[in-house]
Amino acid sequence: MITDGHGRTINYLRLAVTDRCNLRCTYCMPESGLDWTPRSELITTPEMLRICTLLIKMGIDKIRITGGEPFVRKDLLPFLHALSVISGLQELTITTNGLLTAPFIPELKKMGIRSVNLSLDSLDQDRFIAITRRDGLAQVLGTLDALLANGIAVKINAVVMEERNIEDIIPLAELTQSLPVSVRFIEEMPFNGTMQNVSLAWNSQRILSHLKERFPTLKKAVDESHATALNYDIPGHKGRVGLIPAYTRSFCGSCNRLRITPTGTLRTCLYEAGQLNLKDRIREGYTDEMLARLVRNAVMKKPLDGWAAERGLIANNLAHQSMATIGG
Ligand code: 5AD
Ligand code: SF4
Repeated sequence: MITDGHGRTINYLRLAVTDRCNLRCTYCMPESGLDWTPRSELITTPEMLRICTLLIKMGIDKIRITGGEPFVRKDLLPFLHALSVISGLQELTITTNGLLTAPFIPELKKMGIRSVNLSLDSLDQDRFIAITRRDGLAQVLGTLDALLANGIAVKINAVVMEERNIEDIIPLAELTQSLPVSVRFIEEMPFNGTMQNVSLAWNSQRILSHLKERFPTLKKAVDESHATALNYDIPGHKGRVGLIPAYTRSFCGSCNRLRITPTGTLRTCLYEAGQLNLKDRIREGYTDEMLARLVRNAVMKKPLDGWAAERGLIANNLAHQSMATIGG
């Protein structure tokens, strides 16, 4: 079991397999993209498997694959196959933008992947293009259909932004009427790869008030422990809606997660830079015992919450990175 210095048990890893993406979402990166990590600096499949195997032995039982966009990585499927059979791993999930995902869904299902998070900020073609700076809404909706047809649970992630997709809040929430999906509205975070800060005109409370105007019967559901979403049921609807206070950071107290970036850096908090590069240590020949000790030490220093972590980022001039390099 891995525990941090605040007594929290860590059992959840979010692994970003690439920083590359086939979209250019305004809240994630500039139009020109990022300075992509050179391939030699990306964590390889054998390195990812070595780290995951070790962390699973140490008590991680849930892994989410993120990016960048995981499916732009050519060796993703063989990696997922190998990962899915490691004993001790209870839950394997993926976050994807849904552009390239549909053809792989039957295989994901066979591997035992029961739940996928789909990023979708608008149901309107023009607004989708304005946000992602690419076309692709039809493919995303195709992926949504295919996931549901294969019995894979879907959580839709929508980042809420003033002047970009406020008109989409209600239409996205209305999807839950006929579809068994969880639609989660995420506060925008300052990880857009530019120096631009976030105004947070729409925090979770404001989104909730907006939803309540349209759905007056909205009622709080019981959330699982460690959940980052505050979930709400709408009587008569097949799905549910949720709020993720990613900026407000009201969920940090029960945090159970670690992140690994596409270059192999362990981050103990989304808002923290990360000191330990596991890929580099592997390439230097460290044994599993040595790696395990480094991981335990890093986790002991996991910040109490995202506010404490962010103070460290600002002090080290590392603020304003992209979600794609941190790992979503
Ligand atoms: N603020 C909030 N959410 C973000 N995501 C990416 N960048 C940001 C940001 N700046 C979300 C995406 C995706 C998940 C991995 O992270 O919508 O669903
Ligand atoms: Fe790509 Fe996701 Fe970033 Fe959008 S938010 S550019 S889909 S990694």
